[in-house]
Amino acid sequence: MQLDVVTLFPDWFDWFAGQRHVRNVLAEGHELRTLGLREHTPLTGGQVDDTPFGGGAGMVLRVDVMDAALRAHYGEDPTELRLRRRVIALTPGGRMLDDAYVDELAAEPALTLLCGRYEGFDERIVQHLASDTLSVGRYVLSGGELAAMVVADAVLRKLPGALGHADSAVEESFSTALEGHPEYPHYTRPARHRGWEVPEVLLSGHHEEIRQWRRARSIERGGA
Ligand SMILES: C[S@@+](CC[C@H](N)C(=O)[O-])C[C@H]1O[C@@H](n2cnc3c(N)ncnc32)[C@H](O)[C@@H]1O
Repeated sequence: MQLDVVTLFPDWFDWFAGQRHVRNVLAEGHELRTLGLREHTPLTGGQVDDTPFGGGAGMVLRVDVMDAALRAHYGEDPTELRLRRRVIALTPGGRMLDDAYVDELAAEPALTLLCGRYEGFDERIVQHLASDTLSVGRYVLSGGELAAMVVADAVLRKLPGALGHADSAVEESFSTALEGHPEYPHYTRPARHRGWEVPEVLLSGHHEEIRQWRRARSIERGGA
């Protein structure tokens, strides 16, 4: 997969790219690239935003700046680009990220995440330059960078080779393997700590009983 992030703060992703599971997928040939909006702006002084028409607080990311940045990076009209590549505007009111959306994105060969700042995007960016919207939750972050890292993390860890154990990302909270329920609880050594016991069944070695116990706990949590 080629995962591109369009941002005002490309250096934020240096730390992210250094994380083990990300390094693992990059070593497998996947790519994580950043595109700095300010480096591509056609406006003077690195300007990328402007005051909102109609008045109001804050600044709005300009559509001509995003258009120019995408065009310079991909060498094609961004209205064409979005027809062949998922170009995702990160926005609080967007399509909510969940495991199914992550699976959908993990199956793509290429993604572009657009990070907003300030008051957000000029709506024409969403309408004409993006193919999708995505929200990481019904709350407001200061910018799209952390949201992009959430998406990148959730997507990249689904790719083969990301995690130490091949099955780690299969039977996880909200996965099909768990019928969409949260994962069951885990325990490790010591089996007893301050009188807090590990459920007996997990120490029993009975695989089928353990499987049934885990399924029941998972379903139970789903109702929480
Ligand atoms: C301060 S927010 C803009 C909030 C906008 N004025 C609103 O009320 O919806 C700036 C940028 O952060 C990103 N952002 C903030 N919260 C987000 C969320 N929950 N999901 C995805 N992106 C988010 C978006 O890219 C957004 O354009």
